[in-house]
Amino acid sequence: MRSTVLVHSGCRQVLQELRPYLVDPGQSGQLLDLLRTLREQTGPVNVSQVPQLSPLRYPGGKTWLVPEVKRWLKSLDMRPALFIEPFAGGAITGLSVAAESLAGQTILAELDPSVAALWVVLIHGSDIDAESLITKVLEFQMTHEQVTATLAGYAASLPQRAFTTILKNRVNRGGILAPGASMMKSGENGKGLSSRWYPQTLVNRMRGIRAIRHRLQFIEGDAFSVIKTYRHRKTAAWFIDPPYTAGGKKAGSRLYLCNEIDHERLFTQMAACAGPVLMTYDDAPEVRSLAHRSGFSIREVPMKTTHHEVKNELLLVKP
Ligand SMILES: C[S@@+](CC[C@H](N)C(=O)[O-])C[C@H]1O[C@@H](n2cnc3c(N)ncnc32)[C@H](O)[C@@H]1O
Repeated sequence: MRSTVLVHSGCRQVLQELRPYLVDPGQSGQLLDLLRTLREQTGPVNVSQVPQLSPLRYPGGKTWLVPEVKRWLKSLDMRPALFIEPFAGGAITGLSVAAESLAGQTILAELDPSVAALWVVLIHGSDIDAESLITKVLEFQMTHEQVTATLAGYAASLPQRAFTTILKNRVNRGGILAPGASMMKSGENGKGLSSRWYPQTLVNRMRGIRAIRHRLQFIEGDAFSVIKTYRHRKTAAWFIDPPYTAGGKKAGSRLYLCNEIDHERLFTQMAACAGPVLMTYDDAPEVRSLAHRSGFSIREVPMKTTHHEVKNELLLVKP
């Protein structure tokens, strides 16, 4: 059977090369596989296919971008000695890189002290502190009174601070830890505060991180000082996901305690790094202009928002 196919002039060459496959019925299976791979690479990622390694459901978390970052790392002409994520947040990208051993060491940094407390316990904490955190998660009685008392109380120890972070992240709307965030009322399926509280799953993830902590380092501090320390390393690959406040966007200031970023300075410093850099940003004219001026190539990637709309995010790459 003959069919007429409409082909854009830009794809004419591809059609020529595909012609022998298209006329051979024996090739239909392979063509279908090719199509699936293409869809995987160009459509929004199905987040449920990315292993959840972080105990935090982080606002602005980049689970959906993990396959893209892995592809980028594998496309480099070296296996990086260091993978550095200086705006770590929930750190799903760095954890995935460490779990799959895609770099020698992964360095995570974070300025927010409550988020930092969690990473310090899990990555550099003693077994006693890690077990103390795990026990707190397993034994917590999820009632409104207990949550309010725990969040209002003073967290004297490091494991208690780490626990408060996990608890807040699980009971607040959207996992937001910034001041002013409110607690969920009805939660998922009307299950109230418990709707995001899965103690055993959280413990499994924390134990998973403990098991790979020899490949992880955590720095509590400013991303810019981490950049300064490692910028000369040719074998350091960078993943940069700062709070989105460029171009007058306000999301970053509502979502994070630490949200003041000099984006111009960040672009200048990342452009000067010796190693390869991947940055991710909301699509805004100011961001595109900064990327152009700093010599980053720009690619749009589709992602699904929490409201299930597909929107484009920018991937900015420097070799
Ligand atoms: C967009 S979030 C990162 C989300 C992360 N990629 C994830 O998947 O969970 C940005 C993070 O940068 C942190 N941050 C803001 N300013 C910082 C700074 N100067 N140094 C280090 N971290 C900073 C914020 O606290 C926030 O956790």
